[in-house]
Amino acid sequence: MKRLIIAIDGPAASGKSTTAKFVAERLGYLHVDTGAMYRAFTLKVLHQRVDVQNAAEIVKLVPQTTVRLLYKGERQRALLDGIDVSEEIRKPEVTKAVSAVSSIPEVRALMVREQQAMGKNGGIVLEGRDIGTVVFPNADVKIFMIADARERARRRSKELSERGTNIPLDELERDIVERDEKDASRTVSPLQKAKDAVVLDTTTLSVEEQVDFIVAKAMEKMK
Ligand code: DC
Repeated sequence: MKRLIIAIDGPAASGKSTTAKFVAERLGYLHVDTGAMYRAFTLKVLHQRVDVQNAAEIVKLVPQTTVRLLYKGERQRALLDGIDVSEEIRKPEVTKAVSAVSSIPEVRALMVREQQAMGKNGGIVLEGRDIGTVVFPNADVKIFMIADARERARRRSKELSERGTNIPLDELERDIVERDEKDASRTVSPLQKAKDAVVLDTTTLSVEEQVDFIVAKAMEKMK
């Protein structure tokens, strides 16, 4: 059976990661959370105490940095220069800085190269902002996931509180909307629906319904 490339794009906290993980499990595919890669690079910038607005200094870090995703059983781990940073990249300071860092073309080129190498043989579900438009414009299935901002804030709040961090819902919603604006308005590979992507509004859907929808699309393509 043909091993597909499935691209899931969409704004922050729209349900991409959870859904992509289960879709990959159901199909026996690899799940690639490309946001984790941008977060890991951003962590390096913060560790080096480089100002996130200083693109020239950030570009200098590109040749000295490796970002890899590793699979331990079914858990995806993010490695920065060989060190597991999977927990650290979820911290609010990384979330605040990541849009500025990921708008730098040299940073994107590094990540896109890595993602294309991982996906070249298919059998993969990649999720991010530019998968269906830039990384794999010929992906077999393209989904653009959206959800109401308040609902996305609620989901992020639940995720953070499970990690022991509590941030007011209004603040989370404000941060999410702000990050979407930055991600959608940057000049290189902005957050954008690919022309041939199917929009999936997850506001009132359960994870299972989202997964079923995407798996059905994949099955159609495999016929
Ligand atoms: O999916 P996430 O919220 O973990 O992504 C973090 C940030 O990384 C997001 O605000 C923008 C950036 N990103 C990107 O520019 N391109 C991608 N393919 C994935 C994420």
